[in-house]
Amino acid sequence: MKKIGLLFGMEQTFPPALVEAINSRDQGVMAEFVKIGGITLEQLFEYDVILDRISQDVPFYRAMLKVAALNGVRIINNPFWWSADDKFFNYAIAHKAGIPVPKTVLLPSKENPPDTTGESFRNLMFPLNWQEIFDYVGFPSYLKPYDGGGWKHVYKVNNVDEFFAAYAETSNIVMTLQEGIEFTEYYRCYCIGRKYVHIMPYEPRNPHHLRYQADFTLSPAMEATLKDLCLRICTMLGYDFNTIEFAVRDGIPYAIDYLNCAPDAERSSVQEENFEWVLDTTATFLIDCAKQGRAIPQEYSWSSLIKGPTNNKKK
Ligand SMILES: Nc1ncnc2c1ncn2[C@@H]1O[C@H](COP(=O)(O)OP(=O)(O)O)[C@@H](O)[C@H]1O
Ligand SMILES: [Mg+2]
Repeated sequence: MKKIGLLFGMEQTFPPALVEAINSRDQGVMAEFVKIGGITLEQLFEYDVILDRISQDVPFYRAMLKVAALNGVRIINNPFWWSADDKFFNYAIAHKAGIPVPKTVLLPSKENPPDTTGESFRNLMFPLNWQEIFDYVGFPSYLKPYDGGGWKHVYKVNNVDEFFAAYAETSNIVMTLQEGIEFTEYYRCYCIGRKYVHIMPYEPRNPHHLRYQADFTLSPAMEATLKDLCLRICTMLGYDFNTIEFAVRDGIPYAIDYLNCAPDAERSSVQEENFEWVLDTTATFLIDCAKQGRAIPQEYSWSSLIKGPTNNKKK
């Protein structure tokens, strides 16, 4: 019997429904919630696959998952790359690949990081050439963290004064300033296993519970474009579970948010039809991964040192 473990936090509906969906398919693969304590260097991990929905908030889990990967457990999403990645890098890589991305500038944090002094910043231009930055990005623009999620510290700013007022509130968070896309359509897309895409019209200007009730309709041409972009972005970044947000202006979809490696999948939030899709597709994908069995990552410089058996516990 292959085994899938779910690692999750405060979410209520998705993890138990996913365990049930996988177990009810009766495909020689079972799922359960991960139970774990202190991790030893010799730790045997009993899972073929772990779906990680929470390590972004729990560093202990992230460290545990890296060692599980070293022992051959397939981790979704890749904890090494997720640890290394950030949104500004995402924008840069999409831009290089020719995908439309709003003009974006990375800014030094307003306040110094802990344990640094003015001397730590001798390489930093002071003051910044703000006018050049504003001219490049334009207004309205979005001041938002280079990392993180959940709309935390996201400010729409309409002019220089609003920018500085918002920037003053950001303490030592590294921020980006991004061209605001005044959109006519907006889409949030699940992309699973780098092959399944589900496009959800989304109206971020609505109150939270009405955001998945959007007025605009997805044209077949836009659907094809978004699918292609989602697959390209997730393949480039190596994510198997992600959502990508697009704001459409003048018919062009701008990719504005795609580091959502544990995207919202709560039934009450994403609504019934989307919930059913994400549940069903995740179950299919995880079962597929489990059937492929354990695999030690092959792409790291340490990979050649650990060519031995991938699973010394199970036959
Ligand atoms: N460049 C932009 N143009 C228009 N709207 C934006 C832009 N950036 C962010 N937003 C709005 O702010 C919301 C939150 O920003 P986002 O980049 O998705 O960060 P988070 O990871 O916190 O969700 C988006 O859903 C969108 O409504
Ligand atoms: Mg977002």
